[in-house]
Amino acid sequence: MTGKEKLLAEELQGSPTVIDTKTGSKKLFLESYGCAMNFSDSEIVASILAENGYQTVDQIDDADLILVNTCSIRDKAEQTVRNRLNHFKGLKRKNQHLKVGVLGCMAERLKSQLLEEEKLVDLVVGPDAYRDIPKLLDEVEEGQKAVNVLLSREETYADINPVKLNTNGITAFISIMRGCDNMCTFCVVPFTRGRERSRDPKSIVEEARQLAEQGYKEVTLLGQNVDSYRWNITKKGEVINPDEEVVNFANLMEMVAQVSPDLRVRFSTSHPKDMTDEVLQVMAKYENICNYIHLPVQSGNSEVLKKMNRGYTREWYMDRIAAINKYIPDCAISTDIITGFCGETEEQHQETLSLMEQVKYDFAYMYKYSERPKTLAERKYEDDVPEEVKSRRLTEIVDLQMKHSLERNKKMVGKDYKILIEGVSKKNKDELFGRTSQNTVVVFPKKDAVPGTYVNVHVHDCTAATLKGELI
Ligand code: SAH
Ligand code: SF4
Ligand code: F3S
Repeated sequence: MTGKEKLLAEELQGSPTVIDTKTGSKKLFLESYGCAMNFSDSEIVASILAENGYQTVDQIDDADLILVNTCSIRDKAEQTVRNRLNHFKGLKRKNQHLKVGVLGCMAERLKSQLLEEEKLVDLVVGPDAYRDIPKLLDEVEEGQKAVNVLLSREETYADINPVKLNTNGITAFISIMRGCDNMCTFCVVPFTRGRERSRDPKSIVEEARQLAEQGYKEVTLLGQNVDSYRWNITKKGEVINPDEEVVNFANLMEMVAQVSPDLRVRFSTSHPKDMTDEVLQVMAKYENICNYIHLPVQSGNSEVLKKMNRGYTREWYMDRIAAINKYIPDCAISTDIITGFCGETEEQHQETLSLMEQVKYDFAYMYKYSERPKTLAERKYEDDVPEEVKSRRLTEIVDLQMKHSLERNKKMVGKDYKILIEGVSKKNKDELFGRTSQNTVVVFPKKDAVPGTYVNVHVHDCTAATLKGELI
């Protein structure tokens, strides 16, 4: 038996139980901000609390406990949470027993300082300490403030069966790893999420299998850098051949794709420096692995990329784009862009625009650089691009992306696509919406179709954001 076979032959310990979230005597209102990782973590928190007598409620006024899972990625994300906390003051005045806890990245970044700054907060818990929440709540009940922001090198919550919150019953997230070791100079995540660690592949496949059994049709594998997923630890904690025989991301994705041909597989986020041809080959091999890659570029200029410590150049990035187009010709590609990073010149900004012209992204998330405390960029470089310049550059980037999104969508007009129906259109209750493998939203008249099924749709029109079609 090879090391890899040995790793995979081991049985999963115990079988996760179904958790009841509606019968607990205490009432929890849980609210999440930030990335998919946080939403996925909230499902773990709900699960831990359900086992400790809490039911989740949809009405904040009914709650005995409000937990806010927070994001620190940009200053604005933190301001949103602070405003929200302010709003809770009124609720606390009305209900003397109400407790408020802050979880996630802001909790980790600010630690007990958050208790001093936001007097209404009773509880502060970082992303690796969620198992401790019941104990911390006991302390809160005794009238103390409670904090646990210890980061871990091992915690993956692999054995906890997440409780699906606000689910459509069709699409779900599966967390495959935690933390990040990359240290991009602008980014707060390595400080708030700690060291990178991968989750046992058997528990990931088992979670996908259970979701498929419950009728889910799509899973998104989540990590800050999924391409560095790596598992080589046996149940006894032995490390097998540190350099070989590991389960890498391509292997893991293949294992999940094999759960059911009816279960779509997506993933996020890929890192340009680590994305291998092997991953692209596996994507090309399985029809149910969606033809969509989110590949954040951040900047089109190699010097800026170096200053950001991204670990690749413009040329390297373009080589990865060429590889995607080679293996998966109809793959959609999206990106993240930061404009106005420390010292960014007008020429460097033009290079971001020219890279966008070269790639023609289907979609992009675009941000103005926001300096984050303690990051290398904050310590080493000056946030010297004036606000109005950042704004103007951002507008140029957004306008160009709108043009490209429309161009890319126009290319889909006149063609037929298999889509997974996700629900009823928000704008028109006689229409349904779903996504193509390429992640583009398609809206079409309902007829007899139902959410959670696959249908073929002929696309006859589009905007920059959606396709319009008819059932075939
Ligand atoms: N792990 C992912 C990104 C996670 S954060 C990756 O490496 O691609 C999501 C996005 O937020 C980043 O891709 C980046 O574009 C943006 N971002 C991160 N820090 C930022 C900052 N300080 N200011 C503005 N945008 C930032
Ligand atoms: Fe942040 Fe970079 Fe890690 Fe992404 S890869 S989370 S941008 S440090
Ligand atoms: Fe925000 Fe933390 Fe995610 S900072 S983007 S919630 S990892």
